[in-house]
Amino acid sequence: MKRISTGVDVLDKALEGGIPQGSWVVVTGEPGVGKSILCIHFAYAGLRAGDPVVYVTTEQEFRDVMEQAKQLGMDFSRFSVYNIAWKKEPEELPEIVVIDIFGLLKVARQLTEKSKEESPEKVKRYAALSIDTLIEAINEAYHILAVAGEKGTPERHVRLVIDSMSAFWVDKPVMARKYSYQLKIATHRDNVTAMLTSQYAPTTRQAYGFGLEHIADGVIHMWMDDVETAKEVRRWLIIKKMRMTAHESKAFRVRIESGRGIVLEQVT
Ligand SMILES: Nc1ncnc2c1ncn2[C@@H]1O[C@H](COP(=O)(O)OP(=O)(O)OP(=O)(O)O)[C@@H](O)[C@H]1O
Ligand SMILES: [Mg+2]
Repeated sequence: MKRISTGVDVLDKALEGGIPQGSWVVVTGEPGVGKSILCIHFAYAGLRAGDPVVYVTTEQEFRDVMEQAKQLGMDFSRFSVYNIAWKKEPEELPEIVVIDIFGLLKVARQLTEKSKEESPEKVKRYAALSIDTLIEAINEAYHILAVAGEKGTPERHVRLVIDSMSAFWVDKPVMARKYSYQLKIATHRDNVTAMLTSQYAPTTRQAYGFGLEHIADGVIHMWMDDVETAKEVRRWLIIKKMRMTAHESKAFRVRIESGRGIVLEQVT
């Protein structure tokens, strides 16, 4: 079985070499625990390995993601980045296609237009933060990366990051399970290894993405000790599940360091 690097050495070792190719891995946790940074590592490792990357960011503009990455020692500007929201076509074949909120808005508008042409009497209006729009945007990204085969699904290994899934059901948490399932059916392929984030509501400790964790092939959970008691930000990471992997069962201390990013330490 082929294993895909997470971009964090210690985590790869804890996973018998990495995430099994084709897995859908969810990273859960409250704000500030390091979920987005783990996604950055995963995407960057992909670029370094020559994997095309699709990076969905609902939280930040990709410019800010790149800035954050640079601080942590990962320079995305070394690679050819294309934002799906841009008007002009890419001049060269991109290595990473970014889908931010502007990209989702553009795709939603295209889908609404298409519906208008097909049935002017019954127009379907697409929202930017809807699963249909997300799926269409991801498929468009596969085309831009020139990996889409006849059925539109990738013909070579691709890394997919979605940070965060919670944005898609923020106003309708009861839909989380249905949306997750719909997305999994549309994107879960042998040659798509995906990392998706899901936020925990710190007050209730309930994942907004209840449902996502159940259908995921892997769950990496991150948290921090109660800051009022600890009087410091002390972060942790644990692999809760990973299909086909005899993974480490103990938690790791997480440090986020300038120039390095996530540094894991085993505590015995
Ligand atoms: N250059 C840096 N050096 C050290 N720590 C940093 C640096 N940049 C960011 N951090 C730490 O990383 C944290 C942000 O992590 P990240 O954005 O991955 O959290 P998150 O889990 O995605 O949160 P959210 O749910 O709010 O999106 C910051 O709050 C800060 O503590
Ligand atoms: Mg984040």
